Amino acid sequence: MGALQHMNEWEIDDERNAVPFTARLIAHYRAMESKREDPLFVDLFAERLAGDMTAYFSEHAWARGTNDYVTVRTYYIDTQLLIPWCRTHEESQIVLLGAGLDSRAYRFEHLKENDHTIIEVDFDIVNSYKADILKEEKPLCNLVRVSADLSDPTWTSQLKSAGFSEDSPTFWLLEGVVYYLDVDKAASILKAAAQSSTNDSKIFVDVCVPGLTVAQFGPFMRHFRWGLNIEDAPSFFAHCGWKVTCAYADNHDLGRDVGQKNLIFITGVRDLSMMGSTLNLFTELEPMVISESERTTLALDLFTSIMPEIEGIIKSYIDNPEEGKTRYLRLIDQIKPTLEKIIKSHDDLLSIGHISARLFRDPSTVICNSPEEEEAHIVGYLTAIALLMYCTIKGVDGWEFTSSSLYQDSLKIQGNINALLPYLRRIKHELID
Ligand SMILES: C[S@@+](CC[C@H](N)C(=O)[O-])C[C@H]1O[C@@H](n2cnc3c(N)ncnc32)[C@H](O)[C@@H]1O
Repeated sequence: MGALQHMNEWEIDDERNAVPFTARLIAHYRAMESKREDPLFVDLFAERLAGDMTAYFSEHAWARGTNDYVTVRTYYIDTQLLIPWCRTHEESQIVLLGAGLDSRAYRFEHLKENDHTIIEVDFDIVNSYKADILKEEKPLCNLVRVSADLSDPTWTSQLKSAGFSEDSPTFWLLEGVVYYLDVDKAASILKAAAQSSTNDSKIFVDVCVPGLTVAQFGPFMRHFRWGLNIEDAPSFFAHCGWKVTCAYADNHDLGRDVGQKNLIFITGVRDLSMMGSTLNLFTELEPMVISESERTTLALDLFTSIMPEIEGIIKSYIDNPEEGKTRYLRLIDQIKPTLEKIIKSHDDLLSIGHISARLFRDPSTVICNSPEEEEAHIVGYLTAIALLMYCTIKGVDGWEFTSSSLYQDSLKIQGNINALLPYLRRIKHELID
């Protein structure tokens, strides 16, 4: 407890001996939403659960008010996912992993429509705090609280001991959770959930894009550990046992301000067919030692030689996506060994991980559910190649690079093949012309 005594309450998020401040802040924002004249939902328990936030807001006046992202996410889950789920299942389990101070078990009237059990999983300190505050309240359905650390693989056994049934359809809800965990932990949790589920079980997860993890700003984002680009998300989740569709929160924002394509709503159904298969986004890489000058020359030669073909691919994709895609796949196949050599030869592989992780995957195995997703995948992949070449040739550190305008602009062109060509020409101009 010693170190905690010297911390402000809002600095506490990953200590197991305090209720995480992010969980309280989310509850606070739900309480604020509930007080609006036209609230998207009313959570009458949120204010009590959030506790006294005066000290925080007296130092962080800018964070007062409502938080549209939290509101839109909760509303989306309630109306788009849980209402239909509760109506169409005579009996089900709704498992909230990292349940925090969520009060659906007490406020979500649709739970009464059939026979549902809510299972809330969180650290014991969170569960005890919540149980104490809500001890006089009556849940609307069967409610089970499981105190477990999701990083510990035994959490599924604890869930089963508490009454979770592998034979009953389950809706898994990971609302505001996965980006606070290490990516490998998040992946194992998703896999374990899929493996413990019936075929028709579903999932909701929100993830952030990689760019948001470098912000390290504000009460939430400063804890973000990893992110996914939208076009990479289906493969990542397929690898974890879920067939998903993805949409930026902006698509569901109802005119609220949820940021700019930084957070993604992922919804899916259990599908083990690709679990643990070809994909490994975050492969352990064996470093390869080559001299810095050799690496720079490799990158320069590669970039110079592929630029004309990439220009051709983009133009052809705009006219005829099928033909453009074939040319794209052929090019990646040809250059993959060189790309791999360049990446492995970096002294600090982690520093370029956020740029190059996707380049290790075979694009022909990437699942695209729509033409938009395919376009986003191709734009993302070609941009990643160009950025890796840029960092390699210029000798720029990958982490420092994320604050440059060149990197920031790459986030703006995501999914837009028409904007890719001018962007790549700009990189070419800075490198060669
Ligand atoms: C930001 S809060 C979100 C809470 C809730 N889903 C909501 O929307 O109100 C994240 C929650 O995940 C929980 N959490 C984080 N890591 C966890 C772990 N390893 N095991 C169990 N719970 C964890 C935290 O204790 C916290 O309550």
